Parts: sequence; structure tokens; C-alpha cells
Amino acid sequence: MSELSVLVLHGPNLNLLGTREPEVYGSTTLEGINHSLEKEANRLQVTVSCLQSNHEGNLVDAIHNAVFKHRGIVINAGAYTHTSVAIRDAIAGVGIPTVEVHLSNIYRREQFRHHSFIAPVVIGQISGFGSNSYILGLQALVTYLRTEA
Ligand code: DQA
Repeated sequence: MSELSVLVLHGPNLNLLGTREPEVYGSTTLEGINHSLEKEANRLQVTVSCLQSNHEGNLVDAIHNAVFKHRGIVINAGAYTHTSVAIRDAIAGVGIPTVEVHLSNIYRREQFRHHSFIAPVVIGQISGFGSNSYILGLQALVTYLRTEA
């Protein structure tokens, strides 16, 4: 493991990427996104571990388990972004610098997607750049960890 390890968390329904509403989320599969993240991590000389779950508690557990293992988290919490106090509290509780990402621009979509429970406890949010949101999120997190943390 490199000196800087990052956990990438994908929330519910993101396992369907590639076929799920491609006009909204693009045609890149989750495997494709993880592959691009690994390539970028290699370029940045960091390590990424990617995990997808459709279950809120699994995401909470993964955040807890990141303590002492990972220096930062990139999370696309999917629909839990708009509903989960538990994920927000987990991020706040562990205090690991976290970047929130979304494929779509959640502010250009339905009203119920405009609120993120997670936004107040993360360093920042990247929303609307398709699969590139993850790459931008990783770059922003690594820069933050190397310069400000
Ligand atoms: C999403 C946006 C959410 O509103 C939605 O529920 C998702 C994906 C995105 O990446 O654009 O599942 O997080």
C-alpha cells in the first residue's frame, strides 16, 4: 500500500451503471469507473480501494472500518445522499477527509435531489461531470491531503 490510501464508496444502484438511465448517468460501467480511478491513483501515486453497496448499513460499516486504513474517502452515496443521516453521522464521526461526488448535476434535477445530508460534513462536492466527477474528486482529495491535512 502506498503512503496515501483512499476509499472510494459507491452507493445504491450504482452497480447498474452502463445500463441505468444512460441519458442521465452516461454509459460507463462501474467497473470502467473503478478502472479509471485505479489508473489515476497510479498516476498520483496513491492507492484506491473501491466498494459498492446497495445497503445503508454496509456503507456506514465501510466508513467506520476506514479508520486507521484510509486517509481519505470519495463517496457517491447515490439516493442515500438525500435521505441518510446515518451516513452523514458516520462521516462526521470518523473525521476522515471526504469528498462527495455525483455523476449528474443534482441541482439541475428534481427538487428532492437538491438537498444533500452529506454536504455539510465533507470538504467539498463535485457534481455533474459524469464519470469524470470521480477523477476530479480523487484529484481534489489527494491535493487536499498533501497540502492541507
Ligand atoms: C447520483 C444522484 C442521486 O440523486 C441519485 O439517486 C443517484 C446517483 C449521481 O451520481 O448523479 O443514484 O448520486
